[in-house]
Amino acid sequence: MTSLLHLTDFHFWTLLRNPVRMLNKRALGNANLYARRRHHFPMRSAETFLEYIESTGIRTLFLGGDFTTTALDEEFAMAAGWVRRLAEDGYTPYAIPGNHDVYTFEAIRAKRFERYLGGWTPPGGLPSKVTLPGGAPMIFAPTVCPNFLSSRGRISAAEIAQVCDLVSGCEQDSVLVGAHYPVLEHGPGFKTAWSRRLEGADAFRRALGATGKRILYCCGHAHKFGYLQDPHHENLTHLCTGAFFLHRTGAAERGTFSEIHVKEKAVEVYLHRCTDQWTRERVEPRAF
Ligand SMILES: [Fe+2]
Ligand SMILES: [Fe+2]
Repeated sequence: MTSLLHLTDFHFWTLLRNPVRMLNKRALGNANLYARRRHHFPMRSAETFLEYIESTGIRTLFLGGDFTTTALDEEFAMAAGWVRRLAEDGYTPYAIPGNHDVYTFEAIRAKRFERYLGGWTPPGGLPSKVTLPGGAPMIFAPTVCPNFLSSRGRISAAEIAQVCDLVSGCEQDSVLVGAHYPVLEHGPGFKTAWSRRLEGADAFRRALGATGKRILYCCGHAHKFGYLQDPHHENLTHLCTGAFFLHRTGAAERGTFSEIHVKEKAVEVYLHRCTDQWTRERVEPRAF
């Protein structure tokens, strides 16, 4: 059996005061951070939650992106320090970028994600396949790109084909696919705005469905938990994990992550939530 924890959307942040460093999309992100995000992402939780994560006994981690807020060196340094600590404590992290980690074209040119977190990305880059401890295969898919203004992601036809070849090539029936963006754009209780969607999502979802493998598609980005049975593909379920230490003003929830077990004939998902204390609850995929 393979067990892993899915943690995503950390959004370590730094407020900028220097206008020269905001001569791009970062001006927008910094304004948003000043008004809202800094209150919603208390970074000390990254530290205080470590003890609870350790109590799960699970040492394989899928870190699903958005480590930073505006892809600054300072934010990456905080995120990398935290991931390094996990690695030194005996965890095996698999980290992929979110759209906030490629927030500006300047961050891409500087290869900031690779420089800070490249030591924990899946070997082989994106897309690629790893065999997780315990034997379950996991395919990591590329879905992020920089934008001038929006938060849209992108997966090309060639990348979809590569991911699906890797999925189809697995000997096992159950396969995990890890990405930052959801491929379901709407469902019960949610609808993703155009400016936050993945370009190519429908084609990607159809192609995953056509592989015939039993796929658990693990993503983040929405900052809200959801576990849904795909309405068109019986073999495809979607697990969207909420932001790791997001604490919205007035909300009881202060943190969340998912626990996944891949067994020979079944996949089990548990939702961990922190309010006054942490709780762990078995969840089943919800039908449309
Ligand atoms: Fe995010
Ligand atoms: Fe995101």
